[in-house]
Amino acid sequence: MTVVGPFGLSVRDQALEADVQAGLTAVEEGLLEATKSEVPFITEAAQHLVRAGGKRFRPLLVMLAAQFGDPYAPGIVPSAVVVELTHLATLYHDDVMDEAEVRRGVPSANQRWGNSVAVLTGDFLFARASHILADLGPEAVRIQAEAFERLVTGQILETAGPRDGRDPVEHYLDVIGGKTGSLIAVAGRFGAMMSGADETVVDVLTQYGERLGVAFQLADDVLDIASDSTESGKTPGTDLREGIPTLPVLRLRERVERLGLAEDIALSELLDSDLTDDARHAEALSLLRAHPALEQARRDTVRYAQEARATLAPLPEGDAKAALVELCDLVVHRAG
Ligand code: IPE
Ligand code: IPE
Ligand code: MG
Ligand code: MG
Repeated sequence: MTVVGPFGLSVRDQALEADVQAGLTAVEEGLLEATKSEVPFITEAAQHLVRAGGKRFRPLLVMLAAQFGDPYAPGIVPSAVVVELTHLATLYHDDVMDEAEVRRGVPSANQRWGNSVAVLTGDFLFARASHILADLGPEAVRIQAEAFERLVTGQILETAGPRDGRDPVEHYLDVIGGKTGSLIAVAGRFGAMMSGADETVVDVLTQYGERLGVAFQLADDVLDIASDSTESGKTPGTDLREGIPTLPVLRLRERVERLGLAEDIALSELLDSDLTDDARHAEALSLLRAHPALEQARRDTVRYAQEARATLAPLPEGDAKAALVELCDLVVHRAG
């Protein structure tokens, strides 16, 4: 077993490891190339988060999915660069929306240069992604456009909140399917598609990516509460501070409805109050960390990861499939 890439995936087979490693290395070169501008300041801003690291989870998925066809086909690496650039762009924008100060262990772009530069750098990254995408053909452009629409819709729906009468957990699941599942589904789809895999395989890996993406975001939302900033490279409790109710909070609210316990009601009221106050924020975070609602959200995450794993059933057995199975566990059990 050898670990391949920053996400920490263990791979059994040496040939698979070599393929994935070579692909990820080429993606790094592609990212640095795609983020160069004639204007030195734009290069600096665009490469700020590229150089800060990140898990490269989406390129890893592209490389694994490409194992079901010709893993050396020319479209694979550029499609992985497109997906990571798109992801990166959404991080620049997301940190503006969430008023986040830290990303990938460094000051966020908005913290460092202000909101306008952060938004425009995100736009620059989208432009560069589109440029690479154009060479991959109209189908790839359409797939990316549809996913991007879903992603942005998810972000907007998160901001808007559920319509009157809508179940908040269903709303939340729609939001995360859109904002995160859509692009991770593209990673699975592009890898398979660019490698020339059968259409049924392309469909399986699209479905897998979508479900894995939902599990990935659920895990991220648990980590926002449970992890510390050295593990996540982000500020804990950002969702709480911004008043974005994620699954642990929604599960708590359900318990309040179901059981009506005084201490749950008190915590729920604290969570509804202004958590830009540091002391209140710290108290809410520490109470939620010890609360059964967090455990429940962890169990929900495991369930979604199991669903992702189940979609893999039709794929041929082998080291690539074993790696995709392992990825399900890793998504749930990651520390950052
Ligand atoms: C962060 O994505 C945003 C989510 C969809 C949860 P990642 O957790 O993949 O961020 P990096 O790329 O490793 O920084
Ligand atoms: C990020 O969502 C989703 C996208 C970037 C589309 P979050 O706001 O939940 O992610 P983090 O926790 O800041 O990475
Ligand atoms: Mg955020
Ligand atoms: Mg956000």
